[in-house]
Amino acid sequence: MIQAPKGTKDVLPQDSYRAQHVEAAMRQAAALAGYREVRTPVFEHTELFLRGVGDTTDIVQKEMYTFEDKGGRSITLKPEGTAGAVRALIEGKLFAQAQPQKMYYLNNPIFRYENPQHGRLREHHQFGMECFGAKEPTADAELISLLLNMLAGLGLDDLTVHVNSIGCPVCRPGYHQRLREYLGDNLGNLCENCRQRFDRNPLRVLDCKETACKRIVADAPVVLDMLCDECDDHFARLQQLLDAAGVRYQVDPRIVRGLDYYTKTVFEIIMHGVREGLALCGGGRYDGLVEMLGGPDLPAVGFGIGMERILMELDNRGIALPEPEQYQIYVANIEPESLTAAFQLTLALRAAGLRVDCDHSSRSLRAQFKYANKLNVHMLVMVGGEEMQRGNVRLRDMRSGEEKEIPLQGAVEQIAGMLMRKNGGVEQNG
Ligand code: HAM
Repeated sequence: MIQAPKGTKDVLPQDSYRAQHVEAAMRQAAALAGYREVRTPVFEHTELFLRGVGDTTDIVQKEMYTFEDKGGRSITLKPEGTAGAVRALIEGKLFAQAQPQKMYYLNNPIFRYENPQHGRLREHHQFGMECFGAKEPTADAELISLLLNMLAGLGLDDLTVHVNSIGCPVCRPGYHQRLREYLGDNLGNLCENCRQRFDRNPLRVLDCKETACKRIVADAPVVLDMLCDECDDHFARLQQLLDAAGVRYQVDPRIVRGLDYYTKTVFEIIMHGVREGLALCGGGRYDGLVEMLGGPDLPAVGFGIGMERILMELDNRGIALPEPEQYQIYVANIEPESLTAAFQLTLALRAAGLRVDCDHSSRSLRAQFKYANKLNVHMLVMVGGEEMQRGNVRLRDMRSGEEKEIPLQGAVEQIAGMLMRKNGGVEQNG
C-alpha cells in the first residue's frame, strides 16, 4: 500500500468544510481592506529564493525542495509565498500602478524539508497578505488588526501578537557589530551553521533552534536598543496605532524571524497549548526586497499564516466549525421501474437549488430508507407505487416521521417551499 509522503496531510471530503470555512473568513477579511488574490506558480527559479529569502537562513540551507528540470534549470518548490508575490508584482509592473498594491494568497502550497513533528509539515498551506508601496506604519497596523479580527471571528479571540523592530540597513550594521562582540567569546560553542553565520549574518544566530545556541543568545543585546531615529519613530507610531485599534500586543525583542528580507517591523502570533511555542503566524515589513529582486525601491509589509496550524489551534481548543449537511433530500424509488422518475425528480430538485440524491446502487426500498437515515436528510421523497398511479409522490419528514402525499406536478416548488419554512425562511444551500 502506497502511503502519503512523510510530512504531508490529506484533507478528506468529510473534513474539507473546516478549511473552507476558514478560507471564507480569510477572503472576507481581505476584501474588507481591498486586498485581491494573487496566484503564483508552485515552483520558481531557485535563484529567487537564494536572493529573496537569504542563503544563510535555515529554509535555504536545509529545507528547500530543489531539483534540476529537464532543461537543466535549477527549480525550487516554493518554500514561502512572499518572494513569488514580489516577482509577480515586478513582472506584472504593478509598481507602475496606483499605490498601495494590496494582494493576498490563499491555500498556497508551501514546501519545506523539515523534520516532520507536531505542527511541522513538509507541505503546508498558507494564507498571506502583502501590501506594496505603503511606507507608513498604518499598513503594518492594518494587517495586524485584520489578522487578529479574522482569527477572533473564528473563535480565537484571546491571541496576543508579539511585535518587534529589527531595524534597517542604516542601523542594523551597528547592531551586527555589537552582536558579534557578544557572540565572539562563545564562538567555539555555537553550532557549525552559526559559526558560518557569525560573519555574514549574525542576526540568524538569534533564530537558531540548537539548544547550545539558544542558551548563548539568551542574554544577547537587543536590536531595539540600537534603532536609528527613523526605525524608532516607525515602531513608536506602530504601537500607537495598535493601541488605537485595540489590538492585544506585546513588544518582544526575541522575535527576529527566520527569513532575511525583513526590515523594521516583525511580528508573530504564538500558538496556545503547544509546548515549544509554535508560531501560528508570522510577518513583517520588507522594504528592500522589491529592489533586491530587480524592481524599484518600493516599501512592503505582509504576513503568512498556516492553514494547518489554524485548524490545529481550533482543535486544541475544541472549537467546532459549522458542518454543512451533505444532502437535504433523498429521493427513493419504491420499485426498480420508478428509478428513472426518481432520477428526473432529483435533477429537477437540484435545478431548484436543493441538495439531493437518489439511488445509484440498486438498493431495495428498505436499504434506501436506512441509507437516507444515515445521510441525516430532512426529507425523503418516495417515487412509485400506487402514489405514482395517482400522479403523486409521498413525502416523509425524517425528523417528525410525518408523511403526506402531494401531486408530482408542482412537487419541486412545494418541497422547496417546505424546506424554506423549516429553515426559518432562510435558504441553507451554502
Ligand atoms: P513563516 O513564519 O516562515 O513566514 O511562515 C508563516 C506561517 O506558515 C507560520 O507562522 C506557520 O503558521 C506556517 N508554517 C511555516 N512552516 C510550517 C510548517 N513546516 N508546517 C506547518 N505550517 C508552517 C513566511 O513564510 C513569510 N513568507 C511570511 C510573510 C509574508 N512575511 C511577509 N509576508
